[in-house]
Amino acid sequence: MAATCVIGLQWGDEAKGKIVDFLTAQNEIVVRYQGGANAGHTVVFDGKKYKLSLIPSGIFRPEVRSCIASGVVIDPAAILGEIDRLRESGVEIEKNLFISDRAHVIFPWHKEEDRLMNDSGVRSEAIGTTGRGIGPCYRDKVGRSTAVRMGDLYRPDFPEKIRKIVALKNAYLPGMAKNDEVRATVEPLDAEKIIAEYSEYAERLRPFVGDVVSFLLDAVDANKNVLLEGAQGSLLDVDYGTFPYVTSSNSSGVGVTAGSGLPATFIKRVVGIIKAYTTRVGGGPFPTELHDEIGQRIRDRGHEYGTVTKRPRRCGWFDAVAVRYSSRLGGATELSVMLLDVLSGFDEINICVAYELDGKRIDCFPSDVDDLARVKPIYETLPGWSEEIDQVRKYEDLPENARKYLERLSEILGKPISFVSVGPGREQTIVR
Ligand code: GDP
Ligand code: IMO
Ligand code: MG
Repeated sequence: MAATCVIGLQWGDEAKGKIVDFLTAQNEIVVRYQGGANAGHTVVFDGKKYKLSLIPSGIFRPEVRSCIASGVVIDPAAILGEIDRLRESGVEIEKNLFISDRAHVIFPWHKEEDRLMNDSGVRSEAIGTTGRGIGPCYRDKVGRSTAVRMGDLYRPDFPEKIRKIVALKNAYLPGMAKNDEVRATVEPLDAEKIIAEYSEYAERLRPFVGDVVSFLLDAVDANKNVLLEGAQGSLLDVDYGTFPYVTSSNSSGVGVTAGSGLPATFIKRVVGIIKAYTTRVGGGPFPTELHDEIGQRIRDRGHEYGTVTKRPRRCGWFDAVAVRYSSRLGGATELSVMLLDVLSGFDEINICVAYELDGKRIDCFPSDVDDLARVKPIYETLPGWSEEIDQVRKYEDLPENARKYLERLSEILGKPISFVSVGPGREQTIVR
């Protein structure tokens, strides 16, 4: 009776949604605790594919309470769109979705700031955000003065608050543009229109909004099983990732307690989710990135195109230096290796076991992004396997070289592997 966390150990899209859905069966509560509609989590079962952004991937089990905790930033239009799509698919959400009144709200000015600041011109490479207003909303949360929480939507002073914020935002949004050409594209915000729109969203969301943290603390007292669903990946963590090419929340293991309100002592199991290779969307260094036909083959076999923005994901070999760092940071008790089926048919498979930086071999993950951009991966090469494995259900039935690859990963990372995924479906999961 305790909490289990599912944390991505790479740059996101490790297939966290699949494992959360899988583990939900053993839990009474599932919690999303950071990030927002920048996340795109996919769950596939009974031949149907569901894409979730804000709603926990546990939503498909009606007996389980799906919570969105205080650390999440909520775009009301996005979540209502998801609710509508789930209802259309016949998914029961009425009784089991619970949204924190402490969670912060994304407004149109956040998306506009995101557009203006993503490519601010300060660095040569843009962050390549999802454009969902995530960074600016978290910035307002930390800045406090112009922040709005879900609970504020129901307060009588809400319209007045919006009028004041809009006046401020209209004054400084044009100043955020990097040049006159961009400035000319900044449209003034209409406070009354936003008030009307958000008041309607608030009414539609009212049945779901409440004090999630009290509910979770009661669950701790009652010794319930709680599953925590991380969004993004550890290397996108604002404090410990490849800053500034990161997201604006603590997306590594360190963010669990801050985002959910659950005490650290309640967390007993941390499942680190890794792809059998590496992908990244957006800007920033990626030491094992492949710009050749091998990278393209991984992209094609893995359908590596963004769930949220449809951008082609950058693909490369598994980076054990980065994951050793993120799995230690998150206190992973075990690993789940995803998309192993994508690696079938390669003669050889590389694992990056160390970096070379300025002629020296290093095995730690550099804190400075410019150092990380200069490292050269040092590879260990393992023989591949030719068989397709998407029908395999038992570990022993995997090709010998696939098992050797997994065992070598586990050895280098110093963590046991609990799950191996060989396809997107629920049943395509090998439990060890
Ligand atoms: P998340 O953001 O971590 O939840 O991951 P995404 O949903 O963005 O991306 C993972 C993608 O891989 C989704 O399209 C999944 O349906 C798919 N997927 C999950 N597990 C496997 C697997 O083992 N093999 C293959 N081929 N696809 C998988
Ligand atoms: P899931 O939960 C992959 C990336 C963006 C960009 C950077 C900052 O599906 O794994 P943001 O919009 O958050 O300010 O963008 O972070 N990013 C993700 N990459 N998976 C995600 O979520 C991501 N969420 C944000 O591409 O590089
Ligand atoms: Mg995703």
